[in-house]
Amino acid sequence: MSDPSAEAENLPRHVAIIMDGNGRWAQRRGLPRIEGHRRGVRSVREAVETCADLGLEQLTLYCLSSENWKRPESELRRLLNLLEQFLVEERATIMRQGLRFATIGRREGLTDGVLREIDRTVELTRDNSKMRLCLALNYGARSEIADAARAIARRVAAGELSPDDVDEELFADHLYTSGMPDPDLLIRTAGEMRISNYLLWQISYSEIWVTEKCWPEFREPDLKDALHAYAARDRRFGGLSPQ
Ligand code: IPE
Ligand code: IPE
Ligand code: MG
Repeated sequence: MSDPSAEAENLPRHVAIIMDGNGRWAQRRGLPRIEGHRRGVRSVREAVETCADLGLEQLTLYCLSSENWKRPESELRRLLNLLEQFLVEERATIMRQGLRFATIGRREGLTDGVLREIDRTVELTRDNSKMRLCLALNYGARSEIADAARAIARRVAAGELSPDDVDEELFADHLYTSGMPDPDLLIRTAGEMRISNYLLWQISYSEIWVTEKCWPEFREPDLKDALHAYAARDRRFGGLSPQ
């Protein structure tokens, strides 16, 4: 582990995480996959607390993708139950931490219980001013982009907008993430070198950091390692390094 001052100098505003490897973590220990999801909740708590304490603006966690519906019904049911339980149990902590809660993704397919607890937490935390905690639930970047294109096309057809008004900024305003900063740092656990349909538009210039550790074993020092690596990156955005 390294010099913590580098983190203080150059923190990301927004960290997005692909929390992967719950199933593998469990299976390696001879446990059912759901145990991995359950143990992953502790890592979520720790990541939220660390990012909030550091004063980040936003943390976005990939909890359920639009592709995850391909999984067995029993795993999905347990995952959604766990999510509902998390939302109920963490509400007081989220309030104490002063976090603003948000979600991105399609509501269709989520259970009534999950939707109810999401809405309650969003409403309750609306006026908080600390970090935004955003959960990507039933989220898929391609459908997000298609939804935005459809919404813009409707506005053009209605005469509200001209085709010439469609630029990057207007497009971004029609995504689920409208008003949120793009992620500066994208973390993926469990070693896969892929994006899995996460935030395709928003990560166009994010720094990527991948660890072999599975999500249930991802602890605060691992997050600090990622932040430290980020602090040392030279973000050029197509330009040249400042001299
Ligand atoms: C990530 O862990 C959590 C979700 C996708 C909901 P996985 O369940 O994908 O775990 P692995 O990748 O099978 O190990
Ligand atoms: C990405 O993990 C989705 C979440 C972490 C919620 P997956 O396990 O679904 O991704 P793939 O299937 O390995 O690409
Ligand atoms: Mg996985």
